[in-house]
Amino acid sequence: MALMSVTRPVLYLFGSAAPPVLNLANVVRQAQGRGWDVALGLTPTATSWLQAELPELEQLTGYPVKSAYRRPGDPDVLPPADAVLFAPATMNSINSLALGITTSWVIGFAAEAIGKGIPLTVMPCTNTALTGHPQFPRSVATLREAGVRVLLGEGGFVPNAPGQGRPEAYPWTAALQAVEESIGR
Ligand SMILES: Cc1cc2nc3c(=O)[nH]c(=O)nc-3n(C[C@H](O)[C@H](O)[C@H](O)COP(=O)(O)O)c2cc1C
Repeated sequence: MALMSVTRPVLYLFGSAAPPVLNLANVVRQAQGRGWDVALGLTPTATSWLQAELPELEQLTGYPVKSAYRRPGDPDVLPPADAVLFAPATMNSINSLALGITTSWVIGFAAEAIGKGIPLTVMPCTNTALTGHPQFPRSVATLREAGVRVLLGEGGFVPNAPGQGRPEAYPWTAALQAVEESIGR
């Protein structure tokens, strides 16, 4: 049964610039149907990919789609997060997060979530050419050691050969289940 809005846990759903991000409106509806209050964050590149959809996404969630840091003194525009799902996560975003390179707001928030103990789930979207780069397994290991749930491999995202990506098969339901488990639901 869906929870009443006042008691809904808040999911920060963050996306970076890989093709499954283009399906974000459906994922928001799916998460809302599972009882979440959803707030969206995007990398600057993902923001440019979804530029035309931003008004619809803001109407759907009821919150601004956040991609930039606020200015000092400006108020926070989002309710506090109960959990964060970073999906799809590009090679760039995974490495930035693992290395703590917090130039963009979503990476900065996710990096702080580790230190604050806010449950963080990351599902990559990276082909086998990228996962073959030596930094990729190091970044995944760093994040897992820090307690981040990285949904890579069976039960999560299985890297495809270059040019063989199937964004429609990106395992969103597994990601939502994992993030629910992360808060004990
Ligand atoms: C059509 C297209 C598809 C892409 N797919 C992926 C992908 O699946 N995984 C990935 O890591 N990068 C992919 N990229 C490259 C990223 O968009 C690029 O590295 C970008 O800088 C990522 O920035 P972000 O992590 O800040 O969103 C793709 C680029 C294009 C143009």
